[in-house]
Amino acid sequence: MQNFLSILDLDPDRLGKVLELAAKLKRERVKGMKAPTWNALNGKNVGLLFEKPSLRTRVTMTIGVRELGGDIVEIPADVMRADREPIQDVTRNLERWVDAVVIRTFAQERLSQIAEITPKLHVINALSNEEHPCQALADVQTLSEKWRSFEGRRIAFVGDGNNVCTSLVHVAMMLGIAVHVATPKGFELPDEVVDQAAAVSQKGAGLTEFTDPKAAVRDVDAVYTDVWTSMGQEVEYADRKKLFQRYQVNEALMALAKPDALFMHCLPAHRGEEVTDEVIESPISMVFDQAENRLHSQKALLLQMLT
Ligand code: CP
Ligand code: NVA
Repeated sequence: MQNFLSILDLDPDRLGKVLELAAKLKRERVKGMKAPTWNALNGKNVGLLFEKPSLRTRVTMTIGVRELGGDIVEIPADVMRADREPIQDVTRNLERWVDAVVIRTFAQERLSQIAEITPKLHVINALSNEEHPCQALADVQTLSEKWRSFEGRRIAFVGDGNNVCTSLVHVAMMLGIAVHVATPKGFELPDEVVDQAAAVSQKGAGLTEFTDPKAAVRDVDAVYTDVWTSMGQEVEYADRKKLFQRYQVNEALMALAKPDALFMHCLPAHRGEEVTDEVIESPISMVFDQAENRLHSQKALLLQMLT
């Protein structure tokens, strides 16, 4: 696979292979230098190009490449200032030196343009305004550890129809998991994503949209939320905080889901806004498993792309 800009760059078969490999890498991590993949990326260089802040993606990509025997080059954000040179020129330089570049940026379109003008460079989306596919891989790895099978499972995403929601819908459809998405009016998933969901859906899994969060979570197996204001939307913070109030995931909302329903969040979380302390700190909360699995699933992705 040349690029990973979207979950849609995978098909169900390849997705299954990445998840299988991710589980194996997780089991074998304790072997350290004795793990069979310890040297798999020997001689490979991976650049990190982040135009927005990151803890989880940056750290797990860095450690992941190192654990596979490759090298990481952190490119400081100031070289990407538009008044210095276009990001497309930055990546055309990188193409001459590194094997892959992991990019966190604004418009998804920018990633497609970069992939097009740097055909030798493997491009990995580390989050754009529209999609967060690396997160979605870790999310389904986490679910597969908790659920024996995805058959008949349903997830509710409550909040903003944003990048994390889009990639979750893509991956869930491909695995045959039904998704309910509850958003305020005006914050729904883009129509394009609704069409993509229908196109990639397996085993009759469907996407259903709601405005009422209570209706969306009724009898689901997991409830997922994310911040109401994503990076780059900070000026809208006060308005969004008011508009999204009834979409908070709290104990009363969780009580409407199945009794053993899981809580999920990509992090960073704003406690007291999209989720209460009680829910995120409760035993049903998967948030740190999701964060841990960023490492294993991205290592699997890197192996699929670079070896
Ligand atoms: N979930 C996630 O992508 O976290 P970071 O923004 O810290 O990388
Ligand atoms: N929707 C959030 C996800 C952060 C990992 C954002 O884009 O800021």
